[in-house]
Amino acid sequence: MADGFFMDEHATGWRAFVARFLPLVLVILLVGSLGTLLYSASHAARDHERALKEQRRSFEVIALARAFEAKTARAEVTLARYVISLDPDTGRLFQDQWRTAASQLKTLNYTTRHSDWQRGNVMALQAAFEQRGKTLSEIGLRTTYDQKMAALAQFHQAGKSRDLMRITALLDRVIQAENARLQERSQAVSLAGDRNAWFGKTSQLFGLVLLVCVLFALWFANAAYSERRNARRQADDEAERADRLEEAVATRTAELSDAYERLKKETAERAAAEENLRQMQKMDAVGQLTGGIAHDFNNMLAVVVGGLELAKRKLRLKPQEANRHLDNAMEGANRAAALTRRLLAFARSEPLLPSAVDPDALVAGLSDLIDRSIGDQITMAFENEAKGWRIFVDQHQMENAILNLCVNARDAMDGRGRLIIRTGQVQLAHHEVGECAGGEYVTLSVSNDGCGMTPEILSRVFEPFFTTKPVGKGTGLGLSQIFGFVHQSEGEIRIESEPGRGTSVHLYLPRHIGAEGEDAMDAPTLDREPVLHPPTRILVVEDDPRVLNQTMAALAELGHLPVACDHPSKAVKLLASHRDIGLIVSDVLMPDMTGPEMVRTLPAVYAHLPVLFVTGYAGDTAESADFGGHEVLRKPYTLTVLAQALSNALSGSHHPGTAAAAE
Ligand SMILES: Nc1ncnc2c1ncn2[C@@H]1O[C@H](COP(=O)(O)OP(=O)(O)OP(=O)(O)O)[C@@H](O)[C@H]1O
Ligand SMILES: [Mg+2]
Repeated sequence: MADGFFMDEHATGWRAFVARFLPLVLVILLVGSLGTLLYSASHAARDHERALKEQRRSFEVIALARAFEAKTARAEVTLARYVISLDPDTGRLFQDQWRTAASQLKTLNYTTRHSDWQRGNVMALQAAFEQRGKTLSEIGLRTTYDQKMAALAQFHQAGKSRDLMRITALLDRVIQAENARLQERSQAVSLAGDRNAWFGKTSQLFGLVLLVCVLFALWFANAAYSERRNARRQADDEAERADRLEEAVATRTAELSDAYERLKKETAERAAAEENLRQMQKMDAVGQLTGGIAHDFNNMLAVVVGGLELAKRKLRLKPQEANRHLDNAMEGANRAAALTRRLLAFARSEPLLPSAVDPDALVAGLSDLIDRSIGDQITMAFENEAKGWRIFVDQHQMENAILNLCVNARDAMDGRGRLIIRTGQVQLAHHEVGECAGGEYVTLSVSNDGCGMTPEILSRVFEPFFTTKPVGKGTGLGLSQIFGFVHQSEGEIRIESEPGRGTSVHLYLPRHIGAEGEDAMDAPTLDREPVLHPPTRILVVEDDPRVLNQTMAALAELGHLPVACDHPSKAVKLLASHRDIGLIVSDVLMPDMTGPEMVRTLPAVYAHLPVLFVTGYAGDTAESADFGGHEVLRKPYTLTVLAQALSNALSGSHHPGTAAAAE
C-alpha cells in the first residue's frame, strides 16, 4: 500500500516533469531545426541563383563573342566593299561597324572582368583587335586617299595576316573556355536545383512534422490542463468533503455528548429509582419479617399470657389445673424462644459454638429422634460415606438442621415414602459450588421421593417466612435458618428437586483436620445430667434490672449465692468486697462495655475465675473467640439448662464452693 503510494507519487513527479519540460524541449528542437532548415534552404536557393546567374553570364559571354566575331567579320567585308567601291558611305559604315565591334569587345571585357580564366584571352583579344583595327584603319585611309591599289594589296595582305587568325583563335578560345565553364555551371545549376528541391520537400515534410508536433503539444497541454483542472476540482471536492466530514463529526460529537448527558441523567434517575425500589423491597421484607414475627409471637404470647392468667386463677383452689396451665405457658414461651433462635440463626447472628464433629456419628446419634419425628410409614436409610472426615460446626445447630430437613422431607412425602440420609466426601474446585473455596468437603444429603418442588417454589425456599404449609403447620424459617447456619460455617447448600419425583438437599461443609483431643471440647448437650456443685457465690453482671432479678432468683433457686452487679464498671469493686466469689455470670451486650471486654480488663488476680456468658443476641461479637473460651448460655433458658451451664463452667475450676469454704 505504502509502496504503491510511493510509486504513484514518483510517477506523478516524473510525469509532471515531462509535462512541464517536454513541450519546451520540443519547441526548442523544432525552432532550432526549422532555423537550420530555413538557413540551409535559403543558402541552397542563393547557390542556385548564383549558379543560374553564372550560367546566364556564360551564355552572354558566348553570345557576345559570337556577336563580336560577326561584327568584325561584317566590318572587314564592308571595308572590302569600300576598298573596291570607294564609296564614302561604305567607308563610314565600316567605321560604324568597327566601332560597334569595339564597343562589343568592351562589353565582353566588362562582362568577363571577374572571370580570371578569361581575362588573359580577352586581354589578348583586345590587343589583337586593336592591332587589326590599326591595320584596317590604314587600309581605310589609303582607300580614302585614293591609293586603291595599295589598299587592295594591303587588304589582301591583311586577309592573310596573323592578327585576323589570332583574333579568330582567341575568340574560339574564349568561347571554348566559356563553354567548358558553362558545362560546369549547368551541372552546378542542376545540383543547386536538386538541393533546393530537396530542401523544399524537406521543409514540407518538416512543416508536416511541425504541425503534428504542434498538435501533439496542444493535445498534451490540453491534457495537462485538464488533469490540473481535474486535480484542482478533486482537491476542491476533497476540501469540501473534509469540511462536510468535520461538520458531521462536530454534529455527531454534539449529539453524542447530548446522548451522554441524557444517559448520565437517565443512569442517575435509574440509580435513584433502583435505590428507591431496593428501599421499598427492604421495607417490604422488613414488613413481611416483622409481620410474620409479630403474628407468631402474638400467638405464642397468647398461649403464655393465657396460661399464666388461668394458672393464677386456679392456683389456690385447683393447684393441679394451675400446674397444667403453667406447663402450657411454658411451652408457649419455649416456642417463642425457639423462634427467636431461628431468626438469629437466619441472621447469622447467633453465636456459634463450633467443635470438631464426626457427621456419621452425629447422624447415628440422631436416628432415634428422626425416626420418632417422621412416623412409621416412612422408611429410613443411612449411607455413611464420610469415613472419618470431620467438620467444625456448632453441633446443636447441625442437629437442628438435619432434623428440619427430615421434617421437610416427611411433609413432602405426606407421611409415606422413603427417606435417605447420606454422608460423603468430595473434593471441590474453587467456586465449584457457590462461594466455596477449593478443598475437601463433607457432604450431607437428605433425599426423599415426595412431591418435589416447582422451579417457582424452589427459587423462594430460602426466603424467611416463605412456606407452602397451612397456617400453624410451618413458619417458613426452616430452610432460611439452615442457609444462615451453613454459610456461617463456610459451607454451601444446594437443592435438587423435580415436581412429583422428590427432592434432595445437599449440605457442603469444609472438612476439619485437627487434633483428636478437640472432641473433648464438646458443646453442651441437653441430655447430659447436670453435675451438682456445692453452693457458690456468683457475681451476676446484668444491666437490665428485670433480667438481673430473674437471674438472681434462678441462681438462688439452684442453691447458689448471687451478688447483683447492674453495671460492668462496678464489677471490680464488688469482687474486691466479696473475696469468696467463685464464678462470674455476665450478660454480653451492655452499655459502655461488653461482658467479654469487662472480663478481659479485670485485674490479674481474678484471671482464674470461671465465667459464664449469658446472651440473647451476640451481634458483632458473635465470633466464638470473643468469649475467650468461656461457657456461653443462650437466653432464654430454663432452670435445667442454667444448672447444666453452671455445672460446665464450674467443673473447669477447682473452686470448692462458697458454702464448703465457709464451713
Ligand atoms: N423436601 C422438600 N420437598 C418439597 N418441598 C419442600 C421440601 N423442603 C422444603 N420444601 C418447601 O419449602 C418451603 C419452605 O421450607 P422451610 O423448611 O423453610 O419452611 P416450612 O417447612 O414451610 O416451615 P418450618 O420449617 O418453619 O416448619 C416449604 O413450605 C415447602 O414448600
Ligand atoms: Mg421446614
